[in-house]
Amino acid sequence: MSNRNVGCWIFAYGSLIWKPEFPYLTKRVATLEGFTRRFWQGSIDHRGMPGAPGRVVTLVKDPNGSCEGLIFGVSDARREEVLNALDVREKGGYERNVYSVTPRGSTGTKVEALVYRAGPSNPNFLGPADIESIARQVSSSCGPSGNNLEYVRNLHESLRDLRIWDPHVTKLAMALETIGVN
Ligand code: SIN
Repeated sequence: MSNRNVGCWIFAYGSLIWKPEFPYLTKRVATLEGFTRRFWQGSIDHRGMPGAPGRVVTLVKDPNGSCEGLIFGVSDARREEVLNALDVREKGGYERNVYSVTPRGSTGTKVEALVYRAGPSNPNFLGPADIESIARQVSSSCGPSGNNLEYVRNLHESLRDLRIWDPHVTKLAMALETIGVN
């Protein structure tokens, strides 16, 4: 379909990939340069609880890195409603940014996309940990949106279906398998 009616693009790299829960006109795989996807954000409102946070993804600045995800094209008419709902959903530390992303197969033409990113100064940011510790935390966390394991599993399977290769997500899925919970 053409992009003519698209009022804004939303770049998704975590739960928004498999559970956008907003109306969109079109979607495609796209790459964001300069960031990598990491399970470094604590979740106390979706996949964990206050005092027992789960771990969800954010984007970490990495000049040599990139993150592949999906862009969703939203109509101008639905833009405000969609962004208001996403601001509530992503309120646990994520802020709306505008970054240039490259759609797959676009021969380098970039589009501007809105991106929810949880930066290192937000109160729920957990930062790096070895993959086994992240796996243990994931395996024992649960929140109002479901258990943390389901988040990892859905992300891992969605990326595989989209032919997106992310070693960090794959290593975490393997670590969960090793400790016998995946
Ligand atoms: C996203 O999916 O783009 C943001 C992070 C999340 O909600 O998991």
